Amino acid sequence: MTVKTMSKNNDDHDDDKLSHDEKIDENNSNAMNGLVRKRRPGIIELGDVTPHNIKLLRRLNQVIFPVSYNAKFYKDVLESGPLAKLAYYNDIMVGAVCCRVDTSEPNTRRLYIMTLGCLASYRRLGIGTKMVEHILDYVSQKDSNFDSIFLHVQINNEDAIEFYQKFGFEIIETRKNYYKRIEPPDAHVLSKNLKK
Ligand SMILES: CC(C)(COP(=O)(O)OP(=O)(O)OC[C@H]1O[C@@H](n2cnc3c(N)ncnc32)[C@H](O)[C@@H]1OP(=O)(O)O)[C@@H](O)C(=O)NCCC(=O)NCCS
Repeated sequence: MTVKTMSKNNDDHDDDKLSHDEKIDENNSNAMNGLVRKRRPGIIELGDVTPHNIKLLRRLNQVIFPVSYNAKFYKDVLESGPLAKLAYYNDIMVGAVCCRVDTSEPNTRRLYIMTLGCLASYRRLGIGTKMVEHILDYVSQKDSNFDSIFLHVQINNEDAIEFYQKFGFEIIETRKNYYKRIEPPDAHVLSKNLKK
């Protein structure tokens, strides 16, 4: 069976949204059927978010996350440069990370990870690591003027908690009823201090 892919090299083609969506679902279910084998060596690369592939990012996030993000989110992502990246596994778009600068606390500049995820069938292949390492490189080499990096995770999301703890993130707070439409509604705040 031919497996269509969402190649990073043809993201400016004129495919309509439905066919892109079908490709995401198809890639995901083919992988579920065993075509992607755990630990099979694959090439993991990051690419830019552009007006040509922003609909695919939206579709990816719809598949990966239980909450949906509005048009402003995607408008801001398009303007966030290296703070947003798509992840490709052997040229197939399988994940994404989207961050923004947060200055909501006085005299504090933090990097907020809004979303970071990859399709379920492509997990434990190092794709999340590639995305976190990109963000850690950014705050150590490109813009070192951050106090910390932080994010919210649903309290039952043990996979993500273990994943982030591996990179030195710690639970610093638990916010009751942080999420409006999902159960459980509580979120941990995970944070990695960047100041010595
Ligand atoms: C969290 C997430 C991004 C991890 O991505 P991933 O590509 O599977 O992560 P990696 O393969 O790079 O894993 C790196 C390490 O993290 C830890 N880890 C990752 N997933 C784990 C899990 N399910 N259970 C325990 N440890 C885990 C392991 O130490 C792993 O190393 P190993 O595979 O050598 O044991 C992924 O599970 C995901 O997309 N979840 C849904 C979205 C989400 O919840 N995002 C977090 C909120 S923004």
